[in-house]
Amino acid sequence: MTTRAGAHFPTRLALQGRRVLVCVGGGIAAYKALELVRELKRRGASVRVAMTPAAERFVAPLSFAALSGEPVARDLWSDAHRGEIHVELGAWAEAVVVAPATANLLVRAASGLCDDVVLATLACCRAPTLFAPAMHERMWRHAPVARAVRRLRDDGARLVGPVTGPLASGEVGEGRMSEPSEIADAVERILASTGADLEGVRVLVTSGPTLEDLDPVRFLGNRSTGRMGHALARRALARGAHVTLISGPVALEPPPGAEHVAVRSALQMHEAVLARADAQDAIVMAAAVADWRPAEPSTDKLKKPDGVTETTLRLVRNPDILAELGAWRAARGQRRPVLVGFAVETRDLEQAAREKLRVKRCDLVVANLAADGFGGDEDVALLVDEDGVASTGRIDKHALADLVLDRVRARLASG
Ligand code: C5P
Repeated sequence: MTTRAGAHFPTRLALQGRRVLVCVGGGIAAYKALELVRELKRRGASVRVAMTPAAERFVAPLSFAALSGEPVARDLWSDAHRGEIHVELGAWAEAVVVAPATANLLVRAASGLCDDVVLATLACCRAPTLFAPAMHERMWRHAPVARAVRRLRDDGARLVGPVTGPLASGEVGEGRMSEPSEIADAVERILASTGADLEGVRVLVTSGPTLEDLDPVRFLGNRSTGRMGHALARRALARGAHVTLISGPVALEPPPGAEHVAVRSALQMHEAVLARADAQDAIVMAAAVADWRPAEPSTDKLKKPDGVTETTLRLVRNPDILAELGAWRAARGQRRPVLVGFAVETRDLEQAAREKLRVKRCDLVVANLAADGFGGDEDVALLVDEDGVASTGRIDKHALADLVLDRVRARLASG
Protein backbone atom coordinates (compact mmCIF):
# COMPACT_ATOMS: atom_id res chain seq x y z
CA MET A 1 0.00 0.00 0.00
CA THR A 2 1.41 3.43 -0.88
CA THR A 3 0.35 6.66 0.81
CA ARG A 4 0.12 10.04 -0.88
CA ALA A 5 3.56 11.00 0.46
CA GLY A 6 4.96 7.82 -1.05
CA ALA A 7 5.73 6.08 2.26
CA HIS A 8 5.46 2.30 2.04
CA PHE A 9 3.50 0.27 4.56
CA PRO A 10 3.77 -3.50 4.23
CA THR A 11 0.34 -5.05 3.67
CA ARG A 12 -0.52 -7.75 6.16
CA LEU A 13 -0.56 -11.06 4.32
CA ALA A 14 -3.65 -13.23 4.57
CA LEU A 15 -1.87 -16.14 6.25
CA GLN A 16 0.74 -14.12 8.12
CA GLY A 17 2.07 -16.14 11.02
CA ARG A 18 -0.37 -19.05 10.53
CA ARG A 19 1.03 -22.57 10.81
CA VAL A 20 -0.03 -24.87 7.98
CA LEU A 21 0.98 -28.50 7.61
CA VAL A 22 0.92 -29.89 4.07
CA CYS A 23 0.61 -33.68 3.89
CA VAL A 24 1.59 -35.04 0.52
CA GLY A 25 0.12 -38.31 -0.79
CA GLY A 26 1.45 -40.53 -3.54
CA GLY A 27 -0.18 -39.34 -6.74
CA ILE A 28 1.03 -37.52 -9.80
CA ALA A 29 -0.58 -34.30 -8.51
CA ALA A 30 2.17 -34.31 -5.84
CA TYR A 31 4.11 -31.99 -8.15
CA LYS A 32 1.33 -29.41 -7.67
CA ALA A 33 1.82 -29.67 -3.91
CA LEU A 34 5.18 -27.95 -4.46
CA GLU A 35 3.31 -25.00 -5.91
CA LEU A 36 0.86 -25.16 -3.00
CA VAL A 37 3.71 -24.85 -0.49
CA ARG A 38 5.03 -21.83 -2.38
CA GLU A 39 1.58 -20.28 -2.51
CA LEU A 40 0.99 -20.74 1.23
CA LYS A 41 4.42 -19.25 1.97
CA ARG A 42 3.73 -16.37 -0.41
CA ARG A 43 0.58 -15.62 1.62
CA GLY A 44 2.64 -15.47 4.80
CA ALA A 45 2.15 -18.94 6.34
CA SER A 46 4.79 -21.03 8.08
CA VAL A 47 4.63 -24.34 6.27
CA ARG A 48 5.83 -27.78 7.23
CA VAL A 49 5.51 -30.84 5.07
CA ALA A 50 4.92 -34.53 5.78
CA MET A 51 5.10 -37.10 2.98
CA THR A 52 3.90 -40.66 2.60
CA PRO A 53 6.45 -43.14 1.24
CA ALA A 54 4.46 -43.25 -2.03
CA ALA A 55 4.66 -39.45 -2.36
CA GLU A 56 8.46 -39.69 -2.44
CA ARG A 57 8.18 -41.75 -5.61
CA PHE A 58 6.79 -38.69 -7.37
CA VAL A 59 8.66 -35.76 -5.81
CA ALA A 60 11.90 -35.62 -3.88
CA PRO A 61 11.56 -34.54 -0.24
CA LEU A 62 14.41 -32.13 -0.82
CA SER A 63 12.19 -30.01 -3.08
CA PHE A 64 9.64 -29.60 -0.28
CA ALA A 65 12.39 -28.93 2.25
CA ALA A 66 13.84 -26.23 0.01
CA LEU A 67 10.48 -24.53 -0.57
CA SER A 68 9.22 -24.75 3.01
CA GLY A 69 12.58 -24.02 4.63
CA GLU A 70 11.91 -26.86 7.08
CA PRO A 71 12.95 -30.50 7.22
CA VAL A 72 10.31 -32.83 5.76
CA ALA A 73 8.67 -35.45 8.01
CA ARG A 74 9.01 -38.71 6.10
CA ASP A 75 9.47 -41.47 8.57
CA LEU A 76 7.77 -42.25 11.87
CA TRP A 77 10.77 -44.27 12.97
CA SER A 78 13.56 -41.85 12.11
CA ASP A 79 16.22 -41.07 14.77
CA ALA A 80 16.42 -37.57 13.34
CA HIS A 81 13.41 -36.44 15.36
CA ARG A 82 13.64 -35.84 19.01
CA GLY A 83 10.44 -37.24 20.50
CA GLU A 84 7.47 -38.19 18.41
CA ILE A 85 7.23 -36.33 15.13
CA HIS A 86 3.50 -37.00 14.61
CA VAL A 87 2.66 -35.64 18.07
CA GLU A 88 4.84 -32.60 17.55
CA LEU A 89 3.49 -31.83 14.07
CA GLY A 90 -0.09 -32.48 15.18
CA ALA A 91 0.24 -29.96 17.99
CA TRP A 92 2.08 -27.43 15.80
CA ALA A 93 -0.40 -27.22 12.93
CA GLU A 94 -3.27 -24.71 12.93
CA ALA A 95 -4.55 -26.23 9.70
CA VAL A 96 -3.68 -29.36 7.75
CA VAL A 97 -3.97 -29.77 3.99
CA VAL A 98 -3.73 -33.22 2.47
CA ALA A 99 -2.76 -32.68 -1.17
CA PRO A 100 -2.97 -34.75 -3.17
CA ALA A 101 -5.39 -36.89 -1.16
CA THR A 102 -5.24 -40.15 -3.07
CA ALA A 103 -7.97 -42.80 -2.91
CA ASN A 104 -5.68 -44.92 -0.75
CA LEU A 105 -4.95 -42.08 1.65
CA LEU A 106 -8.63 -41.10 1.97
CA VAL A 107 -9.75 -44.64 2.75
CA ARG A 108 -6.95 -45.19 5.23
CA ALA A 109 -7.49 -41.83 6.93
CA ALA A 110 -11.22 -42.53 7.22
CA SER A 111 -10.50 -45.80 9.01
CA GLY A 112 -8.09 -44.17 11.43
CA LEU A 113 -5.03 -46.12 10.33
CA CYS A 114 -1.76 -44.59 11.52
CA ASP A 115 1.06 -46.59 9.99
CA ASP A 116 2.94 -43.78 8.30
CA VAL A 117 3.87 -40.29 9.36
CA VAL A 118 0.99 -38.61 7.48
CA LEU A 119 -1.72 -40.87 8.90
CA ALA A 120 -0.28 -40.82 12.43
CA THR A 121 -0.15 -37.02 12.30
CA LEU A 122 -3.75 -36.80 11.10
CA ALA A 123 -4.78 -39.06 13.98
CA CYS A 124 -2.90 -36.87 16.44
CA CYS A 125 -4.00 -33.49 15.17
CA ARG A 126 -7.11 -31.58 16.27
CA ALA A 127 -6.65 -28.74 13.79
CA PRO A 128 -9.11 -28.43 10.88
CA THR A 129 -8.14 -30.70 8.02
CA LEU A 130 -8.70 -30.06 4.34
CA PHE A 131 -8.43 -32.87 1.80
CA ALA A 132 -7.71 -32.07 -1.85
CA PRO A 133 -8.56 -35.34 -3.62
CA ALA A 134 -6.83 -36.31 -6.84
CA MET A 135 -7.41 -39.56 -8.68
CA HIS A 136 -8.99 -41.08 -11.75
CA GLU A 137 -12.73 -40.45 -11.94
CA ARG A 138 -13.52 -44.15 -11.62
CA MET A 139 -11.57 -44.30 -8.37
CA TRP A 140 -13.34 -41.15 -7.11
CA ARG A 141 -16.68 -42.85 -7.80
CA HIS A 142 -15.60 -46.21 -6.32
CA ALA A 143 -18.03 -46.99 -3.48
CA PRO A 144 -15.41 -47.49 -0.71
CA VAL A 145 -13.77 -44.16 -1.64
CA ALA A 146 -17.13 -42.37 -1.65
CA ARG A 147 -17.89 -43.94 1.76
CA ALA A 148 -14.53 -42.81 3.11
CA VAL A 149 -15.11 -39.25 1.94
CA ARG A 150 -18.51 -39.19 3.58
CA ARG A 151 -17.04 -40.54 6.80
CA LEU A 152 -14.25 -37.98 6.84
CA ARG A 153 -16.79 -35.22 6.27
CA ASP A 154 -18.97 -36.54 9.07
CA ASP A 155 -15.90 -36.48 11.30
CA GLY A 156 -15.45 -32.79 10.48
CA ALA A 157 -12.95 -32.77 7.62
CA ARG A 158 -13.36 -30.36 4.70
CA LEU A 159 -12.80 -31.08 1.03
CA VAL A 160 -11.72 -28.90 -1.83
CA GLY A 161 -12.30 -30.40 -5.26
CA PRO A 162 -11.72 -32.61 -7.10
CA VAL A 163 -12.59 -30.70 -10.24
CA THR A 164 -13.43 -31.88 -13.73
CA GLY A 165 -10.60 -31.61 -16.24
CA PRO A 166 -7.86 -33.56 -17.96
CA LEU A 167 -6.65 -36.48 -15.82
CA ALA A 168 -3.21 -38.08 -15.83
CA SER A 169 -4.59 -40.84 -18.07
CA GLY A 170 -5.35 -38.30 -20.80
CA GLU A 171 -9.10 -38.69 -20.29
CA VAL A 172 -11.26 -35.85 -19.06
CA GLY A 173 -13.18 -36.48 -15.87
CA GLU A 174 -13.89 -35.49 -12.28
CA GLY A 175 -10.82 -36.30 -10.25
CA ARG A 176 -8.34 -33.56 -10.98
CA MET A 177 -6.87 -31.86 -7.93
CA SER A 178 -7.95 -28.25 -7.38
CA GLU A 179 -5.38 -25.66 -8.35
CA PRO A 180 -2.92 -24.64 -5.60
CA SER A 181 -4.36 -21.12 -5.42
CA GLU A 182 -7.87 -22.54 -4.85
CA ILE A 183 -6.55 -24.85 -2.14
CA ALA A 184 -4.77 -21.91 -0.50
CA ASP A 185 -8.02 -19.91 -0.66
CA ALA A 186 -9.80 -22.77 1.12
CA VAL A 187 -7.08 -22.80 3.80
CA GLU A 188 -7.59 -19.07 4.28
CA ARG A 189 -11.33 -19.53 4.70
CA ILE A 190 -10.82 -22.28 7.25
CA LEU A 191 -8.31 -20.29 9.25
CA ALA A 192 -10.48 -17.18 9.14
CA SER A 193 -13.16 -19.02 11.09
CA THR A 194 -11.07 -21.04 13.52
CA GLY A 195 -10.49 -18.37 16.10
CA ALA A 196 -12.22 -19.11 19.40
CA ASP A 197 -14.67 -16.28 18.72
CA LEU A 198 -17.53 -18.09 20.48
CA GLU A 199 -15.57 -18.79 23.65
CA GLY A 200 -17.97 -19.04 26.57
CA VAL A 201 -21.07 -18.73 24.35
CA ARG A 202 -23.76 -21.31 25.07
CA VAL A 203 -25.32 -22.66 21.90
CA LEU A 204 -28.13 -25.19 21.69
CA VAL A 205 -28.51 -26.94 18.33
CA THR A 206 -31.29 -29.30 17.29
CA SER A 207 -30.58 -31.79 14.55
CA GLY A 208 -32.09 -34.63 12.53
CA PRO A 209 -35.70 -35.66 12.07
CA THR A 210 -38.27 -36.44 14.71
CA LEU A 211 -40.08 -39.76 14.37
CA GLU A 212 -43.72 -40.03 15.34
CA ASP A 213 -44.72 -43.55 16.31
CA LEU A 214 -47.86 -45.15 14.94
CA ASP A 215 -47.32 -48.42 16.73
CA PRO A 216 -44.29 -50.28 18.15
CA VAL A 217 -42.85 -50.91 14.66
CA ARG A 218 -44.01 -48.02 12.45
CA PHE A 219 -43.54 -44.30 12.46
CA LEU A 220 -43.97 -41.11 10.44
CA GLY A 221 -40.62 -39.52 9.67
CA ASN A 222 -38.78 -37.36 7.18
CA ARG A 223 -35.55 -37.41 5.19
CA SER A 224 -33.41 -35.22 7.46
CA THR A 225 -30.00 -36.86 8.05
CA GLY A 226 -28.78 -34.47 10.76
CA ARG A 227 -25.76 -33.43 8.69
CA MET A 228 -26.55 -29.71 8.95
CA GLY A 229 -27.30 -29.72 12.67
CA HIS A 230 -24.27 -31.84 13.46
CA ALA A 231 -22.06 -29.58 11.31
CA LEU A 232 -23.37 -26.59 13.29
CA ALA A 233 -22.58 -28.30 16.57
CA ARG A 234 -19.11 -29.26 15.36
CA ARG A 235 -18.26 -25.78 14.11
CA ALA A 236 -19.64 -24.10 17.25
CA LEU A 237 -17.45 -26.39 19.36
CA ALA A 238 -14.40 -25.63 17.22
CA ARG A 239 -15.05 -21.92 17.76
CA GLY A 240 -15.08 -22.33 21.52
CA ALA A 241 -18.81 -22.49 22.28
CA HIS A 242 -20.42 -24.68 24.92
CA VAL A 243 -22.69 -26.83 22.79
CA THR A 244 -25.82 -28.78 23.62
CA LEU A 245 -26.91 -30.97 20.72
CA ILE A 246 -30.47 -32.28 20.88
CA SER A 247 -30.92 -34.72 18.07
CA GLY A 248 -33.58 -36.99 16.69
CA PRO A 249 -32.56 -40.46 15.49
CA VAL A 250 -29.63 -40.13 13.04
CA ALA A 251 -26.80 -42.35 11.86
CA LEU A 252 -24.18 -39.76 12.85
CA GLU A 253 -22.04 -39.70 15.97
CA PRO A 254 -22.46 -36.60 18.11
CA PRO A 255 -19.27 -34.52 17.93
CA PRO A 256 -16.98 -35.10 20.92
CA GLY A 257 -17.30 -32.30 23.45
CA ALA A 258 -21.00 -31.59 22.87
CA GLU A 259 -23.54 -32.31 25.57
CA HIS A 260 -25.74 -34.71 23.62
CA VAL A 261 -29.41 -35.36 24.28
CA ALA A 262 -30.98 -38.06 22.10
CA VAL A 263 -34.72 -37.75 21.52
CA ARG A 264 -37.18 -39.45 19.20
CA SER A 265 -40.41 -37.50 18.90
CA ALA A 266 -41.29 -33.83 18.54
CA LEU A 267 -42.80 -33.87 22.04
CA GLN A 268 -39.53 -35.17 23.48
CA MET A 269 -37.56 -32.55 21.53
CA HIS A 270 -39.97 -29.87 22.75
CA GLU A 271 -39.41 -30.87 26.36
CA ALA A 272 -35.63 -31.17 25.98
CA VAL A 273 -35.28 -27.76 24.29
CA LEU A 274 -37.58 -25.84 26.63
CA ALA A 275 -35.88 -27.28 29.72
CA ARG A 276 -32.56 -25.82 28.53
CA ALA A 277 -33.63 -22.67 26.68
CA ASP A 278 -33.17 -20.24 29.54
CA ALA A 279 -29.47 -21.04 29.88
CA GLN A 280 -28.62 -20.41 26.20
CA ASP A 281 -27.12 -17.49 24.32
CA ALA A 282 -28.31 -18.95 21.02
CA ILE A 283 -30.68 -21.67 19.86
CA VAL A 284 -30.34 -23.00 16.32
CA MET A 285 -33.29 -25.14 15.28
CA ALA A 286 -31.82 -27.20 12.44
CA ALA A 287 -34.01 -30.23 13.21
CA ALA A 288 -36.82 -31.18 10.84
CA VAL A 289 -39.49 -31.36 13.53
CA ALA A 290 -42.65 -33.22 12.53
CA ASP A 291 -45.66 -30.93 12.39
CA TRP A 292 -48.07 -33.78 13.12
CA ARG A 293 -48.18 -36.94 15.22
CA PRO A 294 -50.63 -39.84 15.24
CA ALA A 295 -53.54 -39.00 17.55
CA GLU A 296 -53.74 -42.47 19.02
CA PRO A 297 -50.48 -44.40 18.71
CA SER A 298 -51.20 -48.05 19.27
CA THR A 299 -49.37 -50.07 21.89
CA ASP A 300 -49.94 -53.17 19.76
CA LYS A 301 -48.88 -53.61 16.18
CA LEU A 302 -51.67 -52.38 13.89
CA LYS A 303 -53.28 -55.17 11.87
CA LYS A 304 -54.63 -55.04 8.34
CA PRO A 305 -58.08 -56.62 8.47
CA ASP A 306 -58.95 -58.82 5.47
CA GLY A 307 -60.86 -57.00 2.77
CA VAL A 308 -60.11 -53.48 4.10
CA THR A 309 -58.50 -51.46 1.29
CA GLU A 310 -58.54 -48.00 2.78
CA THR A 311 -57.95 -46.49 6.16
CA THR A 312 -57.65 -43.08 7.74
CA LEU A 313 -54.97 -41.88 10.09
CA ARG A 314 -55.95 -39.15 12.52
CA LEU A 315 -53.12 -36.74 13.29
CA VAL A 316 -52.77 -33.97 15.85
CA ARG A 317 -50.51 -30.92 15.66
CA ASN A 318 -47.19 -30.96 17.42
CA PRO A 319 -46.11 -27.87 19.30
CA ASP A 320 -44.04 -25.50 17.16
CA ILE A 321 -40.91 -25.32 19.30
CA LEU A 322 -39.32 -22.37 17.51
CA ALA A 323 -42.53 -20.34 17.53
CA GLU A 324 -42.89 -20.99 21.25
CA LEU A 325 -39.32 -19.87 21.83
CA GLY A 326 -39.97 -16.72 19.80
CA ALA A 327 -43.10 -15.91 21.80
CA TRP A 328 -41.38 -16.67 25.11
CA ARG A 329 -38.46 -14.41 24.27
CA ALA A 330 -40.76 -11.60 23.15
CA ALA A 331 -42.74 -11.90 26.40
CA ARG A 332 -39.49 -11.55 28.36
CA GLY A 333 -38.63 -8.47 26.33
CA GLN A 334 -35.10 -9.71 25.70
CA ARG A 335 -32.86 -10.22 22.68
CA ARG A 336 -31.41 -13.44 24.06
CA PRO A 337 -31.22 -16.20 23.20
CA VAL A 338 -30.57 -15.50 19.55
CA LEU A 339 -32.98 -17.70 17.61
CA VAL A 340 -32.25 -19.30 14.25
CA GLY A 341 -34.76 -21.34 12.26
CA PHE A 342 -34.46 -23.42 9.12
CA ALA A 343 -36.92 -23.68 6.27
CA VAL A 344 -37.03 -26.48 3.74
CA GLU A 345 -39.35 -25.73 0.88
CA THR A 346 -40.15 -26.96 -2.59
CA ARG A 347 -41.14 -23.52 -3.96
CA ASP A 348 -41.38 -19.78 -3.09
CA LEU A 349 -38.35 -20.10 -0.87
CA GLU A 350 -37.71 -16.48 -0.01
CA GLN A 351 -41.34 -15.67 0.65
CA ALA A 352 -41.70 -18.72 2.93
CA ALA A 353 -38.53 -17.78 4.80
CA ARG A 354 -39.69 -14.22 5.39
CA GLU A 355 -43.01 -15.52 6.63
CA LYS A 356 -41.31 -17.88 9.10
CA LEU A 357 -39.04 -15.09 10.32
CA ARG A 358 -42.14 -13.04 11.11
CA VAL A 359 -44.45 -15.72 12.49
CA LYS A 360 -41.84 -17.51 14.59
CA ARG A 361 -40.22 -14.24 15.72
CA CYS A 362 -36.70 -15.50 15.17
CA ASP A 363 -33.59 -13.56 14.13
CA LEU A 364 -32.50 -15.54 11.11
CA VAL A 365 -34.02 -18.15 8.82
CA VAL A 366 -31.76 -20.41 6.77
CA ALA A 367 -33.84 -21.51 3.82
CA ASN A 368 -33.17 -24.14 1.22
CA LEU A 369 -34.98 -26.11 -1.39
CA ALA A 370 -35.57 -29.75 -0.49
CA ALA A 371 -33.70 -30.80 -3.63
CA ASP A 372 -30.61 -28.81 -2.57
CA GLY A 373 -30.32 -29.39 1.14
CA PHE A 374 -31.66 -32.76 2.23
CA GLY A 375 -29.24 -35.61 2.65
CA GLY A 376 -26.11 -34.28 0.96
CA ASP A 377 -22.91 -32.70 2.22
CA GLU A 378 -23.55 -29.45 0.40
CA ASP A 379 -26.35 -26.97 0.26
CA VAL A 380 -27.53 -23.84 -1.52
CA ALA A 381 -29.16 -21.61 1.06
CA LEU A 382 -30.73 -18.21 1.56
CA LEU A 383 -29.97 -16.40 4.81
CA VAL A 384 -33.00 -14.27 5.56
CA ASP A 385 -33.17 -11.74 8.37
CA GLU A 386 -34.77 -8.35 9.01
CA ASP A 387 -32.00 -6.66 6.98
CA GLY A 388 -32.56 -8.70 3.85
CA VAL A 389 -31.62 -11.82 1.97
CA ALA A 390 -28.21 -13.27 1.14
CA SER A 391 -27.63 -16.31 -1.05
CA THR A 392 -24.75 -18.60 -0.19
CA GLY A 393 -24.33 -20.30 -3.57
CA ARG A 394 -23.39 -23.99 -3.44
CA ILE A 395 -21.56 -24.48 -0.17
CA ASP A 396 -20.26 -27.22 2.10
CA LYS A 397 -22.49 -27.64 5.18
CA HIS A 398 -19.60 -26.90 7.52
CA ALA A 399 -18.93 -23.63 5.69
CA LEU A 400 -22.66 -22.83 5.86
CA ALA A 401 -22.56 -23.58 9.58
CA ASP A 402 -19.78 -20.99 9.92
CA LEU A 403 -21.84 -18.37 8.07
CA VAL A 404 -24.78 -19.01 10.41
CA LEU A 405 -22.52 -18.81 13.47
CA ASP A 406 -21.00 -15.56 12.15
CA ARG A 407 -24.52 -14.10 12.13
CA VAL A 408 -25.19 -15.41 15.64
CA ARG A 409 -21.96 -13.87 16.89
CA ALA A 410 -22.74 -10.50 15.26
CA ARG A 411 -26.19 -10.54 16.84
CA LEU A 412 -24.77 -11.31 20.29
CA ALA A 413 -22.17 -8.56 19.89
CA SER A 414 -24.85 -6.00 19.02
CA GLY A 415 -26.44 -6.43 22.45
O1 C5P B 1 -42.83 -24.40 9.88
P1 C5P B 1 -41.65 -25.19 9.44
O2 C5P B 1 -41.68 -26.62 9.90
O3 C5P B 1 -41.30 -25.09 7.99
O4 C5P B 1 -40.43 -24.46 10.20
C1 C5P B 1 -39.15 -24.96 10.22
C2 C5P B 1 -38.42 -24.41 11.40
O5 C5P B 1 -39.22 -24.47 12.57
C3 C5P B 1 -37.20 -25.24 11.73
O6 C5P B 1 -36.23 -24.39 12.32
C4 C5P B 1 -37.73 -26.24 12.70
O7 C5P B 1 -36.71 -26.75 13.55
C5 C5P B 1 -38.75 -25.44 13.48
N1 C5P B 1 -39.91 -26.22 13.93
C6 C5P B 1 -40.17 -26.36 15.28
N2 C5P B 1 -41.23 -27.07 15.71
C7 C5P B 1 -42.08 -27.63 14.82
C8 C5P B 1 -41.87 -27.50 13.45
C9 C5P B 1 -40.76 -26.79 13.03
O8 C5P B 1 -39.38 -25.83 16.08
N3 C5P B 1 -43.11 -28.33 15.27
